[in-house]
Amino acid sequence: MISVLFVCLGNICRSPMAEAIFRDLAAKKGLEGKIRTDSAGIGGWHVGNPPHEGTQEILHREGISFEGMLARQVREQDLTDFDYIIAMDAENIGSLRSMAGLKKAAQIKRLLDYVDDSDLADVPDPYYTGNFDVVYQLIRSGCEHLLASIQEEKQL
Ligand code: 4NP
Repeated sequence: MISVLFVCLGNICRSPMAEAIFRDLAAKKGLEGKIRTDSAGIGGWHVGNPPHEGTQEILHREGISFEGMLARQVREQDLTDFDYIIAMDAENIGSLRSMAGLKKAAQIKRLLDYVDDSDLADVPDPYYTGNFDVVYQLIRSGCEHLLASIQEEKQL
């Protein structure tokens, strides 16, 4: 089983959106039994909470399930448990790298690194910008490219 962990700051806006979209894309390709998808936050402020209303609205509009998803904080063990650790921005990467030390650093990537022609490197935080639509477009594109890349790498 291949495992993918999406990480953002609070685990209520961006990374749960990525988790839900990615799981939905994988299921549509018949890969639900082959890829495990999860998400977590650098901070613990929202542990146990469902996704932010803005993320819920977008996922609901797109017909993507987020049933049972509740925020949790990243733990050190995640860095060795998951095959792919996908962060939303440079700040998340910095936090993860200091948690991981040098040996795991190469396996931590930013979601938009997978989108060759992306104008942005970071997924902006809608907790502050309020713009969940832009974030949805960026995350969707990132997840499509990430899934294609994993399928190629793992021959799925
Ligand atoms: P997220 O957004 O990292 O996309 O979930 C945030 C949610 C909450 C906070 C920051 C960012 N916060 O400071 O509580």
